[in-house]
Amino acid sequence: MLKKISNLLSEVNNFKPNSKENLDNFRIKYLSKSGELNKLFVLFKDIPGNEKKLCGKELNNLKNTINLKLEEFKNSFISKQQVATNDLSKPIILNNLGSRHPLSIVKNEIVDIFNRVGFNISEGPEIEDDWHNFSALNLPEEHPARDMQDTFFIQSDPDVLLRTHTSSVQVRYMEKNTPPIRTISPGRVYRNEAISSRAHCIFHQVEGLYIDKDVSFADLKQMLLYFAKEMFGEKTKIRLRPSYFPFTEPSAEVDVSCNICSSKGCGVCKYTGYLEILGCGMVDPNVLENCGIDSKKYTGYAFGMGIERIAMLKYQVNDLRLFYENDVRFLKQFSSAI
Ligand code: DAH
Repeated sequence: MLKKISNLLSEVNNFKPNSKENLDNFRIKYLSKSGELNKLFVLFKDIPGNEKKLCGKELNNLKNTINLKLEEFKNSFISKQQVATNDLSKPIILNNLGSRHPLSIVKNEIVDIFNRVGFNISEGPEIEDDWHNFSALNLPEEHPARDMQDTFFIQSDPDVLLRTHTSSVQVRYMEKNTPPIRTISPGRVYRNEAISSRAHCIFHQVEGLYIDKDVSFADLKQMLLYFAKEMFGEKTKIRLRPSYFPFTEPSAEVDVSCNICSSKGCGVCKYTGYLEILGCGMVDPNVLENCGIDSKKYTGYAFGMGIERIAMLKYQVNDLRLFYENDVRFLKQFSSAI
């Protein structure tokens, strides 16, 4: 046994690897499970007691020498590529960064446009009660206008539901604040609608509310024109069509000129030259009173728009479902400064 150890020791001492493969083979030869060292340790178990001490010492010496040899040459055959990876002064390789979701980009842009003229941001719960989503907004129970918004109810008596519009946040905001009020409320809303290229059961809105003394319809129109120009470009024109919402009187729907065909008429605007973007009006005095605001002293306007709709127009996306599919090929096309 001692003879065998001393032969191997001199073999190890004389070993000089000439390639990485050579070094690997050396390691396998001596240190692998069926390698020389293990073979000796197996034999070691059966040697007579008086030889054990010396053999054990020599065996450990052999083991250390093998390890020292491996240590000595471990960096000798590192490839250039590996050296480069270990170079800490090397410029980093950037990971692929994600991009903001187009709906977030558009929401941030809308918020930013209104922030610039003094609107703050307010938020409310997505799970609402009947009062804030309907009744306070002049939509009493059994009012036919409730049918305009097919609702997901969570509980009845008292009704608990998923808000169908962000107009509920107006109510909450007016209940807690006194005029002057200038706020916008972005958020997610829910309607029990069949999913198609133009409708989804979950979507996003931004609600706007301005309450003060002597606020007029002219103020509303001016604000909407400002918004349209900021959002769609300086040349954009707006058009107001009379409409009906229970919470505003008078009410209107707002169209912007189609910037694809410069209002000449094209497939996107269905040859009308205009595209509908939002609903608005003067806040109904009943709504002000419901929220504890004196309608003799104050007037105000409100508007509500769908973020998906604005994003579709801005980016010419013709199927709303694309926003929810999380297909990276679609999402990475959008970039933004905000
Ligand atoms: N809440 C309406 C909807 O979801 C949008 C709307 C219309 C909001 C007129 C308003 C408004 O504040 O004045 O269809």
